[in-house]
Amino acid sequence: VGGVKIAKEDVVREGDPTNNVPDTIFSKLGQQLHRRDNHPLGILKNAIFDYFDGNYSGKFTKFDDLSPIVSVKENFDDVLVPADHVSRSYNDTYYIDAHTVLRCHTSAHQANLLQKGHNHFLVTGDVYRRDSIDSTHYPVFHQMEGVRVFSPDEWLASGMDATSYAAMDLKKALEGLARHLFGAVEMRWVDTYFPFTNPSFELEIYFQEKWMEVLGCGVTEQEILKRSGRMDNVAWAFGLGLERLAMVLFDIPDIRLFWSTDERFTSQFSEGQLGVKFKPFSKFPPCYKDISFWISDIFTENNLCEVVRGIAGDLVEEVQLIDNFTNKKGMTSHCYRIAYRSTERSLTDEEINHLQWSVREAVQNKLNVVLR
Ligand code: PHE
Repeated sequence: VGGVKIAKEDVVREGDPTNNVPDTIFSKLGQQLHRRDNHPLGILKNAIFDYFDGNYSGKFTKFDDLSPIVSVKENFDDVLVPADHVSRSYNDTYYIDAHTVLRCHTSAHQANLLQKGHNHFLVTGDVYRRDSIDSTHYPVFHQMEGVRVFSPDEWLASGMDATSYAAMDLKKALEGLARHLFGAVEMRWVDTYFPFTNPSFELEIYFQEKWMEVLGCGVTEQEILKRSGRMDNVAWAFGLGLERLAMVLFDIPDIRLFWSTDERFTSQFSEGQLGVKFKPFSKFPPCYKDISFWISDIFTENNLCEVVRGIAGDLVEEVQLIDNFTNKKGMTSHCYRIAYRSTERSLTDEEINHLQWSVREAVQNKLNVVLR
């Protein structure tokens, strides 16, 4: 990882309450899909690089090999994430120990790189989030972060105030990027909140009859610049999810496919070929199994999904809450429908029944629930 060998014991410690990294996540560390030039994520990364190289004559320094193992300080404190923000919880983030996490966003590197004196940079890497399971969510995905710092002469000449100038430049740069990737699309800006930017925006594009969020961005909080010794500057930052864009650009229907080593997937993509449409080689039927149980107050859907993935791995396509009620005694029951489907072969009844029994056993043993 980042040129360093990571031992499993350094990342996974079952039974240690300060650690919540499962084996399935450890196996993803160091794969670096974004550094493969023939992989859709690498092709997309390179296309974004081309845009920045073309418009800023190589001014942006590129980092795509920074270790995903970062401190809590880097991931949260340095980018002003409040102490009580949900993203800090063990339910949302993978902790290696109380002070170390698998980065949940590439923003974890902003402060360090600013401190080192970089004024224009792009950081690409794998990021990790505990989450629910469906065709667009996977606990490991890839982001690209961009940061640009301006000095006073750049906005003074414009007659605008620093923040308005940075916001205008940011929108222009990212609209250009969206056109570079998607062609002439309709776009809109939506106001939002991030702890590290103010104002903050999301860019949406109209694609296949839907508005789709493309990225988050904003004008960097002055406090972050101040801490890096840049009292007199202003900056913008953006962060975009590569899978989300690649799914649309290459017509990839399921986020698990990015991890496939099946040649019928990998052979369809080649260096420099952005937007070649993926031809599904199979549509194997899904198989649905329901599981119902009485929950306790510590139950969370993210924990359930982790247990299911621990048993079924990438054979699970979706976990969906289909029934939820509380009886007169105040006990709450949940029913989840699990969709099993391989992207590579058909599954036998026997195999799925076996998986479902193992899932039931693991759910009962690990989640403090009572099966119905
Ligand atoms: N880090 C944010 C996310 O993961 C994206 C972002 C980056 C937003 C930089 C603003 C500026 O959602």
